[in-house]
Amino acid sequence: MSLVNHTHAIINNSKAIIGILNKFKANNNYNSRNFHSCSIVSKHHEELEFKIYRWNPEKPKEKPAYKSYKVKRDDIKETILDGLLHIKENEDPTLTFRHHCHNGKCGCCAVNVNGKNVLACSTPIDDKQKVQKISPLPNIPVVKDLVLDLTHYYEQYKNIQPWIMRKKKDEHGEIIKEPDREILQTLKERKKLDGYYECNLCACCSSSCPNYWRDADAYLGPSTILNSFRWIRDSRDGFHSERKDALQGPDSLFRCHGEMNCMSNCPLGLNPAKAIAKVYI
Ligand code: SF4
Ligand code: SF4
Ligand code: FES
Repeated sequence: MSLVNHTHAIINNSKAIIGILNKFKANNNYNSRNFHSCSIVSKHHEELEFKIYRWNPEKPKEKPAYKSYKVKRDDIKETILDGLLHIKENEDPTLTFRHHCHNGKCGCCAVNVNGKNVLACSTPIDDKQKVQKISPLPNIPVVKDLVLDLTHYYEQYKNIQPWIMRKKKDEHGEIIKEPDREILQTLKERKKLDGYYECNLCACCSSSCPNYWRDADAYLGPSTILNSFRWIRDSRDGFHSERKDALQGPDSLFRCHGEMNCMSNCPLGLNPAKAIAKVYI
């Protein structure tokens, strides 16, 4: 990229970032959103239809298709995951999906329900909708049914070196990155991580980002940049400027155009777009 083009890219993206910060002010939902909003709601339908994306790599001639399951509303508890488990245990043991903590922490149960990326375990069934259409998160390769192949996503995460690194020289003048003792933080320093450290790597944000759809090979995506910013913000880390420099290329910050899908699709109410904006400034 020439210097002139690069400068234009910076100016254009600076405008986008100012837009992101303004939108964030209007949508600061991190503190107000419930992590587990399994509230009791009135039941509108006695029977629900679960339309679930099915694809089996062992049957390559069969195209992916949605399969319908009719379920009595009273037979399932509150969440989308309860519904999936009921179907697997009572109707179709071949249905494949991931779940582990049942508590919004591990991020592995992320699916798309009626067009929105959510955690199945902490998303109540919307009783106003008779049909629950459940798909794998969009734009990420599928292993089987609702299970994603997150190899590339985790590789991107690994590349940001998501751990504390210190700068201390050994007797040969080489930098030792590992901390050699517990490193304390003040309460104020710790508080600066709020809104950034909680990410459970569910990929809901990256899967909703148009720029990640276009080129996930190159673009780090909102989740990875948020996690890198989490270490840039950590008072115990000694590589802030190196981490920041690593995000400056055309495939990192400059790909974000502020559509804010990442924020509206994060089940934990985190705001990757805000983290991206803060790396800029
Ligand atoms: S704001 Fe979020 S969704 Fe939009 S382009 Fe940036 S990272 Fe992607
Ligand atoms: S920022 Fe939110 S949506 Fe994105 S991976 Fe982390 S928890 Fe999931
Ligand atoms: S099962 Fe762990 S977040 Fe849903």
